[in-house]
Amino acid sequence: MIVPEQIEEYTAAHTTPPQELLQELAAETRETLRSPQMLTGTVEGRFLELLVHGLGAKRVLELGTYSGYSALSMAAGLPEDGHIDTCEADERHAEVAQRYIARSPYADKITVHLGPALETIERLEGEFDFIFVDADKVNYVNYYDALLPRLGSRGLMAFDNTLWGGDVLEESGDDDENTRTLRELNDRLARDERVVAVQLSVRDGVTLVRRV
Ligand SMILES: C[S@@+](CC[C@H](N)C(=O)[O-])C[C@H]1O[C@@H](n2cnc3c(N)ncnc32)[C@H](O)[C@@H]1O
Repeated sequence: MIVPEQIEEYTAAHTTPPQELLQELAAETRETLRSPQMLTGTVEGRFLELLVHGLGAKRVLELGTYSGYSALSMAAGLPEDGHIDTCEADERHAEVAQRYIARSPYADKITVHLGPALETIERLEGEFDFIFVDADKVNYVNYYDALLPRLGSRGLMAFDNTLWGGDVLEESGDDDENTRTLRELNDRLARDERVVAVQLSVRDGVTLVRRV
């Protein structure tokens, strides 16, 4: 994480606590799934909820469902007629997410699409008001290229993990493909004249993008 642990803890303690169902989901994720650090968690979950709420976003797209924490967080910010399409490639992750979504008040507002996100994006039609990109990092540039034309004129796109634990800061011969792709995306976003972007040091880095 980028921010010192004590500050992370302080911000979490001064954020509205997650609903009980999300606490249960997080506990099961930690006990039963690999890489529980991927959970969005309290601060980023509430941040996403507030973005969706503030935008009045009706159509939300998420890449990378995992066990459903961020999808359920965003659902709490949706208007009555809002909907989230969330993409997940791993059957086990999708199964856990589906189970918690079914128990939530948002069961009819979230659709989990099983399969590679790039294929799902092609099948889904129209524009989105809010897009949360949190799937495989090697495809982040591909996701940007595929989704920028699908972002509504008042919409926002949020990329998670754009600081990648700080690895994007300095180039090294050991950089893996994830790091190289994230650095490429970060550099592109800062100079792409079609968008306004801001990189925030929330959690592992969240970059927000709107179309000009
Ligand atoms: C960082 S986790 C998502 C965390 C989630 N947003 C949350 O709040 O807990 C990334 C997820 O993307 C999924 N994934 C990886 N590659 C994918 C792809 N090509 N298409 C769709 N999902 C993918 C992984 O299986 C994993 O569940």
